[in-house]
Amino acid sequence: MTYTYALSNNYWQLSEQGDPRLKISAGRENITDYKSDTVLVNLFEGANPSGATNAIDKLLQREISNLIKLGDFNGKLNDTAILYPGKELAADRIIVVGLGKKKDFTAERAIQAAASGIKRAERLGAKHVGTIAFGGGDGELSPAEAAESTVIGALLSQYRFTQFKTMGEVVKAPSPLLSLKICEIDNKRIKQIRLGVKDGLAIAEAVALARNLQNTPAANMTPTILSQKARSISRRHGLSCQVLSESQMSKLGMGSLLGVSQGSAQAPKLIVTQYEPSGRSRGTIAIVGKGVTFDTGGISLKPGSNMHHMKFDMSGAAATLGIMQAVAQLKPSVKVIGVVPAVENMPSSTAVKPGDVLTAMNGKTIEVINTDAEGRLILADALCYAQNFKPDAMIDMATLTGSVITALGHSASGLMSTNDDLTRRLRQAGEYTRERVWELPLWEDYEKNIQSDTADLDNTGGKAAGTINGGMFLKHFVGDVPWVHLDIAGTAWEGRKTPYWSGGGTGVGVRLITQLLRDWSGPLKTNLAE
Ligand code: BES
Ligand code: MN
Ligand code: ZN
Repeated sequence: MTYTYALSNNYWQLSEQGDPRLKISAGRENITDYKSDTVLVNLFEGANPSGATNAIDKLLQREISNLIKLGDFNGKLNDTAILYPGKELAADRIIVVGLGKKKDFTAERAIQAAASGIKRAERLGAKHVGTIAFGGGDGELSPAEAAESTVIGALLSQYRFTQFKTMGEVVKAPSPLLSLKICEIDNKRIKQIRLGVKDGLAIAEAVALARNLQNTPAANMTPTILSQKARSISRRHGLSCQVLSESQMSKLGMGSLLGVSQGSAQAPKLIVTQYEPSGRSRGTIAIVGKGVTFDTGGISLKPGSNMHHMKFDMSGAAATLGIMQAVAQLKPSVKVIGVVPAVENMPSSTAVKPGDVLTAMNGKTIEVINTDAEGRLILADALCYAQNFKPDAMIDMATLTGSVITALGHSASGLMSTNDDLTRRLRQAGEYTRERVWELPLWEDYEKNIQSDTADLDNTGGKAAGTINGGMFLKHFVGDVPWVHLDIAGTAWEGRKTPYWSGGGTGVGVRLITQLLRDWSGPLKTNLAE
């Protein structure tokens, strides 16, 4: 079984859509016999070589053990060492990648280590790489998990956004990797490894899709273009997709969303995509992603410095579409609805003004104290609309507040919730994927912050508890559906540098929520109706 991947216009696609580039396969193969220019193996920090690494070490008269003994290489996470075997091995070079300490090992570290190995191989001009499934031996990941992590690391390590580059190193694309084979000697594990490869491809491709949507400049990613992307993704992956126009939204009473978009020449869109499992469904989850394709602040104009980052204000939308594409391929036993309110927030003579009052779909009135608090205004209507699908849970993702960066930096997304079970599931998925979340309270005390003299609600809430005020506001639009709000303003385009992310949009939320949805059909649904 061979999965062929193409990188055309830096947009990862299935092979049917473009020139094949990196071929990924898995099969029964002894890595010591695998004929290629490069072979990847790995080593735990402070440990002796085991498994495939030990087999290679033996054939190389203990060269790896010697490196360890000399202190030249000790298996620190993401460190690499290169060996050049003679006739003892079929491969031209061996790259040993550090996995870090065994007690700290996780699937996410397997992704990192695989990414480090592939990056090193690429820099050396490797064309054909054989690897073991990272973490599948002493790492104690299941064969599927190890293969999945290896593929995610390998593919995401190669992600670059080059669509607008005509000069420089990235354009030259020195020597693209042509094939990656996951070698496994144990026949019994091959089937699982292949499933892992398939899932890893789906996940990596979904993250790359989200990153591409994020990184594309606002002029090339308007609400209309975003809705066209949603349509083509849906068509390609068998999802249903519906795009509501301005007049349809107006008929539904989405005055809050339309208030934000009224200052822009770009038409607003409400994108609705659906995945339905073919077999038994364990419930319906609605994912709602903020899709402000550019946030100038509106009449409450933002300062100029770093305003260009506001092309990323549709990161929640990007993640939502990535998740929808991933579930279309991973096929979890849960129905998933992706809802994306897409608008541009502009100042103009038709723009909403501070002090104006908007009426949301559920009838609540909102005094717009600051037009820059636009995310909650569009999410209000989107969350109301999502309830039409009678979801068992709703999760929204939004680059909602600068304050979440003050609170949590770039290391975790802010989580606010009305349901402890949902929170627990997200926290678990967050630790597993290392797209971490951290809870902030939605206590009644904060309600006074968002009260307005003129209308039901004030869209800002003042300086104190800025992130929570956003959550408190949204809570007015979720009815009694168990709900989680993720403020991803700190994690969507800044974060911990890893070998599988090196700048620009991170695609945060894709692995997190996809993991939650996969887990959903596993552990039984418990007391969700709290
Ligand atoms: N998109 C911004 C939030 C943001 C700011 C994300 C900086 C990343 C970096 C959002 O629409 C916004 O402007 N929020 C305001 C809310 C305030 C006016 C209540 C903010 O955070 O300042
Ligand atoms: Mn804003
Ligand atoms: Zn915004």
